Amino acid sequence: MKLRLFEMERWQSTWENEVEYNLSESGVHPLHVAELLESGDNELLNQLLGYTQTNGTTELRKAIAGMYPNSQPDNILVTNGSSEAIFVSTWSFLEPNAEIIILLPNYMQVWGLTKTFGARLKTFKLQEKEGEWLPDLRGLRKAFSKKTKLIAICNPNNPTGAVLHDDAVEEICALAKKVNAWILSDEVYQGAELDGKTTGSVWGRYEKTIITNGLSKAYGLPGLRIGWLVTTSELAKKLWAYHDYTSIGPSALSDYLARKALQPDMHNKILERTRAQLRTNLPIVKEWVDRHRENFSFVPPRAGAIAYIKYNLRINSTTLAQRLMKEKSTLIVPGDHFGMDGYMRIGYGPPKEYLTAGLNRVDEMIRQLETKH
Ligand SMILES: Cc1ncc(COP(=O)(O)O)c(C=O)c1O
Repeated sequence: MKLRLFEMERWQSTWENEVEYNLSESGVHPLHVAELLESGDNELLNQLLGYTQTNGTTELRKAIAGMYPNSQPDNILVTNGSSEAIFVSTWSFLEPNAEIIILLPNYMQVWGLTKTFGARLKTFKLQEKEGEWLPDLRGLRKAFSKKTKLIAICNPNNPTGAVLHDDAVEEICALAKKVNAWILSDEVYQGAELDGKTTGSVWGRYEKTIITNGLSKAYGLPGLRIGWLVTTSELAKKLWAYHDYTSIGPSALSDYLARKALQPDMHNKILERTRAQLRTNLPIVKEWVDRHRENFSFVPPRAGAIAYIKYNLRINSTTLAQRLMKEKSTLIVPGDHFGMDGYMRIGYGPPKEYLTAGLNRVDEMIRQLETKH
């Protein structure tokens, strides 16, 4: 087995805390612990640092189940980030002859795991059409076969910020049903929609579904490392046993703070904060793209703090990102990490002064490139 590098994560892990301007993150600027606690709340200090319930405390799983109609705590497995939920889910399907279909572009975890473990990989694409990113359902129909075990989608999508239309989700469910495949639906940007309309979950539309989600993106709490999966109680139990091999269970402190974050008032307050931040910052990005219209174009994201920008400068996206990192101390994600040269992903979730200053650094680089040509 040869590890396929998870290029984007390797890039971010190496540089995100070294650069002056990190525009590679896809969530909003994070919250502080104090913002989750009421004043005088000392319970956190008295939290016993033992192993808590390793699939998540019942209270936390109840709060999560509350977001998925007709689910119960035994439908939920709490994980360390949604990445662990994606890992255990994908791992459980990775047999040598298993066929896995992935919507691209995507957070490339399932892609890299499938390549690493040597299962069969097929893809279908989101395509830019008339100002929207739409899935190529013809390509999906062609990709499906009796050997298909899993189909992985990311909705809202990373890196495009697109939200799938209902009829596309219906068709994906119908095709999966035909061949008895499971759907793995990464919904970690749910709640971070600019228009305030929460993206519909695949939960409840098709029985053989695994939803992954967590507190890192729409909730601005990536440091808690709390994610979860929601699926049938049988599969949740099975995947809990896989989780014994990865991290055993979530941190007791994180489980406690996640319960605070998901209390109804706090939950609403956090998502309001996220959407307000996105609405403040997206116009800055739009104006910036417009200023560079001879070189840049993009479909504005419907969700998530990410803008996926197409450029026509004569420079490879990885080279551009490397030069920005080295010469301008600014981190972006190159389209190459999604198999799409000619694009760059800009995270627009930070405070607006920081965002503007980071974009100015990109401007400096573009000016340098333009004078060179
Ligand atoms: C689409 C998507 N899914 C999952 C993750 C994993 O995040 P976490 O493990 O922090 O929940 C990310 C992180 O960038 C992501 O963009």
